[in-house]
Order: sequence, then C-alpha cells, then structure tokens
Amino acid sequence: MKILGIETSCDETAVAIVEDGRTVLSNTITSTKDIFSGAGGVVPEDAARRQVECMLPVLRGALEHADCTWSDIDCIAVTKGPGLMGCLLVGTTLARTLASIYKKPLIGVHHTFGHLSSTWLTDGTAEQDSHWFPSITLSASGGHTDLWYRTSHTTGKLLGRTRDDAAGEAYDKGASMLGLPYPGGPSISKASEHGNESAFAFPLALQKEDTLDYSFSGLKTALKTTIAKQESLEDEALVCDLAASYQYAINNQLCDRIERAIEQYADAKSIHIVGGVSANTALRSMVSARVPLELKVPEKILYCTDNAAMIASAAYFLQQEKGKEAYSAFETRATLPLEDCVCS
Ligand code: KG4
Ligand code: ZN
Repeated sequence: MKILGIETSCDETAVAIVEDGRTVLSNTITSTKDIFSGAGGVVPEDAARRQVECMLPVLRGALEHADCTWSDIDCIAVTKGPGLMGCLLVGTTLARTLASIYKKPLIGVHHTFGHLSSTWLTDGTAEQDSHWFPSITLSASGGHTDLWYRTSHTTGKLLGRTRDDAAGEAYDKGASMLGLPYPGGPSISKASEHGNESAFAFPLALQKEDTLDYSFSGLKTALKTTIAKQESLEDEALVCDLAASYQYAINNQLCDRIERAIEQYADAKSIHIVGGVSANTALRSMVSARVPLELKVPEKILYCTDNAAMIASAAYFLQQEKGKEAYSAFETRATLPLEDCVCS
C-alpha cells in the first residue's frame, strides 16, 4: 500500500511516499529554518506564506523521486494538527483537494502520532515490529515532551508529559540566551562538543516528586541566572561549558523519567526516542549507557525532525489497527488532544 503523506505543521514543507508503513520511496522536505535563524524562532505568518510557495514544487518532487504517478497512490495522509493554523491549512487544503480530484481516501494524522511512527521508517529492508512492544517511548520535540507506554502502534497509555516548556523549546530558548542560532538543539549540541558538561550544576526538576512528568522552565531560569553572573559571553570556552552543562541537564531529566518508567513497567521490551530532540547524540549515548533495554531511534536524523514520511507511516498503522475509523472526517486544528494518538 503506497501512501502519500503531507506535513506542514510548522516551518517544514514536506511530502513523502511510503510503502506499507515502512519503506520510504521518497521524502522531500523544504525547510525555512534558515530564514528564522536570525529571528530566534518561527514567525507564524511568514511560515504560512512560505508553505504556499513551497507546497507544489515539493509535491512534484516527491512523486518524481518515487517514480510514481497518481494511479500508484492508494491513499493520502496529512497532518491535521497540532501546529501553526496557517501552515496546517496549506497542507490540509491541498490534501483535501487532491483526494477529491484523484478520488483517493484521506487520513488525518495527529502530528505526535507521526513522530511515534518514525522509528519504523527505513530506506532498506523493513523489519517486523512485534518484538519491540511493549515499549517505553519518549517523544520530544519543540512543541511537546511526552512519555508513553505502548502495547502496539495505536494502543497504550500516556505516562507523563511536560508541565511547561517542551524539551526542544528548552534547547531553543537556551541557545537564544547563549547567543547561539535557531534551532537551538543542533547549535547547543555542536557547542557542547567543546565544553565541559560538569562545569555548571543545573537542577533536576521534580526530583522528589513521584511523577513521570517533565518540567523545563526552572532549568531555563537557572541558565538565565547563571549567565547573569558571568561578566560576558564573549569567551567561547565559557559558552561551550554552559551549553554542555545545560544539554546534560535537559538530557538527564529526559533519561531520569525513562529510568523511573521502566521500574514501573517491568514488561517493557524496548525504549524508543522520537521527535527532533531524538537527533541529540549525547541523549542517545546517555540512555544507552543508563537504561538496560534495547534503544530504537529513527534510522536517519531526517526522520527525527519534522517530515512527511512519518505521517504516511502513521496513516498506514492507523488503517491497519483501526480500520474504517482511520478514514473518519477530520477538522484542521491548532490544538488536538493526545488521546487522538494512542489510547488503551
Ligand atoms: O520534531 P521537530 O522537528 O518539530 C516539532 O515538532 O517541534 O523538533 C524540533 C525541535 C527543535 O526544538 C530543535 O531545537 C530540536 O527539535 N532539535 C534538537 C536537535 N535537533 C533538533 N534538540 C537537541 N539536539 C538536536 N540535535
Ligand atoms: Zn514535530
């Protein structure tokens, strides 16, 4: 089954074609991140305008790269939310129009469920996934930080989520305070390579609480206070030490809640980390070293950050596990409940 996926929830315009939920035939992405690197973050109105400009060339590119015509496509999948409304509307309007013109079934996908499906994407041979469940899955991006216990692609329960900022947001805001470019995750990660992660001790949030939730706003304030105590940020070595210590603190909290979760869910067979923050190599190393279960992350960095292949993959698993319900009519929504992703 070949599904054409469309993802336009933020500053990436992406179209992909994925066969049977796993094999990526094409994955075309145009990002406007460079445009916003000077602004310290995405400007919603500008991002929506760029989506309109990029959408049709990206669609054509995805079809050409996969060597597909419309008669090869079995279904269209699109991110229905959450995200920036103007951007989402570009993708969903196109998807509804294409579905109507080419008479294809249409599936609306929750953006976070797309990330949850990203670990199955491959450019090589697709593997069976049954031995990975139940899994503890951390989904951490610029917009959300959720910890799941999953018994299949679409079933399980939400164990914890951030009470304030998302982990990726903590990276982005920290980078901005340190004078490093947006997006903050890659720039903090790069600066950290030359820094000492023990140079500054930042607090571990919710340490004494019996919870699997996250919180990053206190850490952000701690970085701000520490920066205020420095004479200046002219010293590159100082910035690298601050970046490395801050990165350690974010990752330590992400890892701490995974460790707590596997104590409570002893039947978990694997750990999955998805979303933009899963691109962080220090986080991957930390979890591999501290958690005694097999770690599964997206096969490519491109599958960690926003992409349309994960949306096509998610739609495949939705129709596999939920049947006709997957094709229900949907609204384009800037906010959407998480129960839409995985439920018991
Ligand atoms: O999943 P994603 O592309 O978009 C959202 O759904 O938000 O995630 C983007 C987030 C940004 O906050 C970015 O700073 C973070 O993922 N990110 C990283 C890395 N690459 C991207 N965070 C830490 N380390 C990275 N290497
Ligand atoms: Zn995302």
